[in-house]
Amino acid sequence: RPHLSMHALDGLVLEDVPLNAIADAVGTPTWVMGAATLRARYRRLAGAMRDAGLTPSIYFAVKANDHLAILQILAAEGAGADVVSGGELRRARAAGVPASRIVFSGVGKTADELRLALAEGIAHVAVESAEELEILSALAVAAGRTARITLRVNPDVDAGTHEKITTGLSTNKFGIPYAHAADLYARAVDLPGLLPLGFSLHIGSQIVAMAPYRAAFARVAGLVRAVRARGLPVELVDCGGGLGICQRDEIEGSPAALAGAIRAELGELDVRLAIEPGRWLVGPTGVLLSRVILRKAGFDGRPPFLILDAAMNDLMRPSLYDAWHGILPLSARDAVQPVESVNVVGPVCESADSFGQGRTLPRLEDGARVALLDTGAYGMVMSSTYNARPMAAQVLVDGGRWTIIRDRQPVEALWAADRVPDWVGPAPA
Ligand code: LLP
Repeated sequence: RPHLSMHALDGLVLEDVPLNAIADAVGTPTWVMGAATLRARYRRLAGAMRDAGLTPSIYFAVKANDHLAILQILAAEGAGADVVSGGELRRARAAGVPASRIVFSGVGKTADELRLALAEGIAHVAVESAEELEILSALAVAAGRTARITLRVNPDVDAGTHEKITTGLSTNKFGIPYAHAADLYARAVDLPGLLPLGFSLHIGSQIVAMAPYRAAFARVAGLVRAVRARGLPVELVDCGGGLGICQRDEIEGSPAALAGAIRAELGELDVRLAIEPGRWLVGPTGVLLSRVILRKAGFDGRPPFLILDAAMNDLMRPSLYDAWHGILPLSARDAVQPVESVNVVGPVCESADSFGQGRTLPRLEDGARVALLDTGAYGMVMSSTYNARPMAAQVLVDGGRWTIIRDRQPVEALWAADRVPDWVGPAPA
């Protein structure tokens, strides 16, 4: 993690900003993202594609991190947006992403969302079912518009990732069964209001090995050939996202290897290409700052609990996927304490509210601050206000400067939209 370094005086530094300075000013928990790191990662990914002779459209998966500043930084680098809801579509537009650089996937798009996509004239809708195809055709005709589409194919390939984030198996809800895809493409060509461009796929997330990608791309290449053999035009393959990062001890997914896999399987097809990276771009660029509320003794000689002021409502990934996020002390003095085994948890009233069991960390006392690493993707966006815990603040670092990019939510905001009917009556005095 070249953007993070430990300094004797300043402690942990992100790009050129000491994280303690941010925690002093903004408090904890606070999400911090590095803008220069993000730009550098985008350039590495785009560069790896170029080096392989590829110039795919790069649609950032907005679900990974939907902050307007993040979307705008990526848009300035040339990225478009992969959205999965009307809300994400509008967010991307609000960040200035042109509609012509937006693609829309999702298994359950509502009629309103599809109408919005038609009205905006986005690059393409990735249609995920035979049912959706008919509905979109009818909506396009009614709106007097043509919907550019791909069919999202389910290649039935095991991405070899956590079962909750795998999407390309025939037991998953995503995409169109491989065996039906060619017929459905022919149907799409016949239906009014649709302009079929080609195929999309996305087999899962946090993928670091290339074999599943190659298998999936090979399946789609076969489909393109089969469809062309029927005399139908195909001009686009959208390869989806999924490239993984190093969270614990994995080797980070390599953009060059991904480019190589795309080139090997799809390079001869004479199609335009697209990719939809989320985690690889933003994950490593972010940390979540937190403070030790309490170091509580373990029971019966077991490791102590380090109870942080961040919790599963902020960062849900460890609770939901048993995901590993590195934990580092912010202060250099804490970092050199003798190590011990601890259970790092949040204060939420759920046993699932845990960031790591039996972690080896320098001994940390009450008030010590830590950074949870690699939280730039699927962090803030998956937060909730469970236990009436306001949404944490967000900060953007860029080299040596930093700014709050989202205020900590005021606690009153949690009930501001509640409406209490008259007939409930007042609470007794
Ligand atoms: N394209 C499509 C159609 C997707 O469904 C996704 C992610 C992506 C692109 C981006 O995938 P990425 O490059 O970020 O792996 N919340 C989970 C991850 C869910 C991913 C869902 N789809 C997590 O925290 O691990």
